Amino acid sequence: MLREGFANNAIRGGWWWWWAPPGICVALLGTGLALLNFGIDEFINPRLRNVGLSQRGARKAGISLSTTLGITPVLGRRQAPPVGATPTSGVTDAVLEIHGFSVDYGYGEEAVHAVADCNLVLRRGQVLGLAGESGSGKTTLALAALRLLRTPGVITAGEVLFHSQPNGEGPAGTIDLLSAGPEQLRAVRWSEISVVLQSALNALNPVITVGAQFDDLLRAHRPQLSGSQRWQRSGELLDMVGMNADRLRSYPHELSGGMRQRAMIAMALALEPQVMILDEPTTALDVVTQREILEELMGLRDRLGFAALFITHDLSLLVELADEIAVMYAGRLLERAPAASLFHAPRLPYTHGLLNCFPPMHGRRLPMAGIPGSPPDLRDLPSGCPFHPRCAWAMPRCRQEAPPLAPLNGSSREVACWLQTGDVPVPAELARPDPVARSSERPAAVKPGSAL
Ligand SMILES: Nc1ncnc2c1ncn2[C@@H]1O[C@H](COP(=O)(O)OP(=O)(O)O)[C@@H](O)[C@H]1O
Ligand code: SF4
Ligand SMILES: [Mg+2]
Repeated sequence: MLREGFANNAIRGGWWWWWAPPGICVALLGTGLALLNFGIDEFINPRLRNVGLSQRGARKAGISLSTTLGITPVLGRRQAPPVGATPTSGVTDAVLEIHGFSVDYGYGEEAVHAVADCNLVLRRGQVLGLAGESGSGKTTLALAALRLLRTPGVITAGEVLFHSQPNGEGPAGTIDLLSAGPEQLRAVRWSEISVVLQSALNALNPVITVGAQFDDLLRAHRPQLSGSQRWQRSGELLDMVGMNADRLRSYPHELSGGMRQRAMIAMALALEPQVMILDEPTTALDVVTQREILEELMGLRDRLGFAALFITHDLSLLVELADEIAVMYAGRLLERAPAASLFHAPRLPYTHGLLNCFPPMHGRRLPMAGIPGSPPDLRDLPSGCPFHPRCAWAMPRCRQEAPPLAPLNGSSREVACWLQTGDVPVPAELARPDPVARSSERPAAVKPGSAL
């Protein structure tokens, strides 16, 4: 009928009844097929299926939740302190404080408790390392603190305070990120706290050039800059991370893995943030590129003075970069200490196991034991200490009671282990002399390469 209509010039002749009804039928058929396609996708695509389930799960668990796209919902949090309050941890140079922080995926009985009751304080200008096996909750902790975690992630408890002292026109004072609205989060994210993720290829837009992506970023956050000033600033940023400014004309697929990661770091630095969160930024790269990028990054940190939360599973890498290291297992922080102390004198069996996974480059040859077994199911954690099924020193008490993260002998380090409470003899492996305690409790400078 449509063909006949067109053949007889029905549109120009105004004979709508010839083309409109079949045209509408074709449009309806197309829409119906598209909806069927979306329905099948929602059923078979686990990511989409999860979104639907989590909303239903929330209703089933009796939770009423208002969600805003791009902002992780908060179910429970501590009472917000007044604006301009002093850091609740008592650390005067704190820039980011996380207290009693818990994050779940999903609701009710089906919930995965990915982060439980974590406390972290990042000091201004400091590098804080966050280490742990894959699946221990490092990425969840970092993304949820900025409320960047996608559905079905939900914050169930805690407090995240950002003590802002902006270089430019950013917001100043203490900002409670868990009660911040979209506008406040927008003003903080990227400008004051930026994130570099493991896969730069996924983070960069593949269909526009690197220069256009810098331009978008600067246009949104620095509207006062002209086009040529934005281009010049983008070139300077690439130059800062050791890339030629010509690369602004390249598409992400035309860059090597190392270049893409450098471009991401340059973008993260574009607005001179106070905090950078680096989530396994060099894990996918070869060791030579990894070392080059890390050296550049640390040089930039010294020059620009930002604080960094550096997430990795590689403890030997962290000891070269971090001032302090926190070790995470099954969503909990189980040890926190100055980097050199943790590396040379671990107090937690899990940290000892992690360190034993990397062969030393120098010294005697020793058998590598690693950690037996695999990380627990976060929906159904073992009773007591979550590490007890894999721990060589587990005691009956470990199966019944979970040890709290507590200061060790009044020092600046903390550990959650029943072996370290003074009630039982400590194995020699977990009682090595602490190099930092010997040098008056301050982190010892670890020379690059000394750990490998
Ligand atoms: N969308 C999700 N739904 C359910 N569980 C998830 C989801 N994303 C991550 N998890 C679980 O949360 C835990 C922590 O994951 P993640 O934070 O990515 O760990 P890490 O960064 O330490 O490797 C893992 O056990 C993972 O299986
Ligand atoms: S509390 Fe017990 S099981 Fe847990 S790490 Fe210490 S010794 Fe091992
Ligand atoms: Mg991760």
